[in-house]
Amino acid sequence: VREAPAALTEALTALDPTAIVVVTDSHVEAARGAALRAALAPFKGRVITAALAPGEEEKNLNSVSMIWDAALGQGVDRRSVVLGFGGGVVGDMAGFAASTLLRGLRFVQAPTTLLAMVDASVGGKTGFDHPAGKNLIGTFHQPNRVVVDLAHLKTLPLRELRAGLAEVVKMAVLEGGPFLEALEAKADVLGGAEVNKKEDGLDALTPFVRASILGKMRLVRDDELESGPRALLNLGHTAAHALESHGQYRKHLHGEAVGIGMVIELQAAERAGLTKAGTSVRVASLLKRLGLPSSVPPEELRAAWHFVGSDKKKSGSTLLWPIVAAAGEPLMERVSLADLERWAVTH
Ligand SMILES: NC(=O)c1ccc[n+]([C@@H]2O[C@H](COP(=O)([O-])OP(=O)(O)OC[C@H]3O[C@@H](n4cnc5c(N)ncnc54)[C@H](O)[C@@H]3O)[C@@H](O)[C@H]2O)c1
Ligand SMILES: [Zn+2]
Repeated sequence: VREAPAALTEALTALDPTAIVVVTDSHVEAARGAALRAALAPFKGRVITAALAPGEEEKNLNSVSMIWDAALGQGVDRRSVVLGFGGGVVGDMAGFAASTLLRGLRFVQAPTTLLAMVDASVGGKTGFDHPAGKNLIGTFHQPNRVVVDLAHLKTLPLRELRAGLAEVVKMAVLEGGPFLEALEAKADVLGGAEVNKKEDGLDALTPFVRASILGKMRLVRDDELESGPRALLNLGHTAAHALESHGQYRKHLHGEAVGIGMVIELQAAERAGLTKAGTSVRVASLLKRLGLPSSVPPEELRAAWHFVGSDKKKSGSTLLWPIVAAAGEPLMERVSLADLERWAVTH
């Protein structure tokens, strides 16, 4: 939907909540507060707000504790609803709070970043970071409703918007066919500096947001706990997580790292004979047209690679690696970490 706080009001009304625990961050409150207040107007007197400091550094137990304190201090009950109004950081913590308060409250996601719209708000993964690593504490807790309003993107910094586009590219590479072709056809429009500021830019974005959400829903619906096909959503994420860790989560935004990681892993898979030659170049050129980085210097990749050994998804010396044989032909391949390193880094 667009510029339609009524859709959020409607989603909340349908749940008939005794109270709404609103989780947001100070950036989002400043940028999107008017829409939030408009959506919540009919619930006057029943709103409990936890406005956190923004940023991944704040995705920790202390912030979760603040949500618990606000909720319990103001009398939530089992018929209350938690609303996550913000990016993926807010959504992940709101979902965790919802899953733990009174052993589980109903939960609504209102994502305000492109990344949260196309990825984080769908699928029910919640949680927060631990000094030992990202997203190490968490639960699965599905939202009862996800309300996507593209108007929120108008205030999103361009770099954040583009980071979200990288996850759209990932879905398009997994699905191939018309999704990927349409994205390639619209790449110059979507890569424009003003795409989220203009109505026609948001119009151009809309079908890709929808296709990404539907694609993720299909993979998650059949595999909620990620024992099978859901892991395909980690395409490009093995290298991405290593680059993010190496850059101490300051150098690359997650989406930027995912774009670069996809190109690195597709190149590696081409060397391994698993992926059709030319696929990595196709993806790199799409990323560039969208205003995204598609590579890092070889020294950086080499220095970052040891973090692959600490990936949550590895088991022993092998990794179940999500990759595509060609665009639209995803597969999971068991590879040794040594082979992967040879294909990706030391070839
Ligand atoms: N649960 C999942 O399945 C899943 C999937 C992917 C990512 N994630 C998580 O999502 C997080 C990243 O999410 P993100 O990229 O949305 O980052 P984010 O939540 O940190 O938001 C990015 C920045 O944009 C600001 N912002 C948000 N919406 C805005 C708006 N409309 N206008 C202006 N500013 C706005 C935020 O305050 C923040 O400073 C990571 O912690 C990641 O682990 C979770
Ligand atoms: Zn991702």
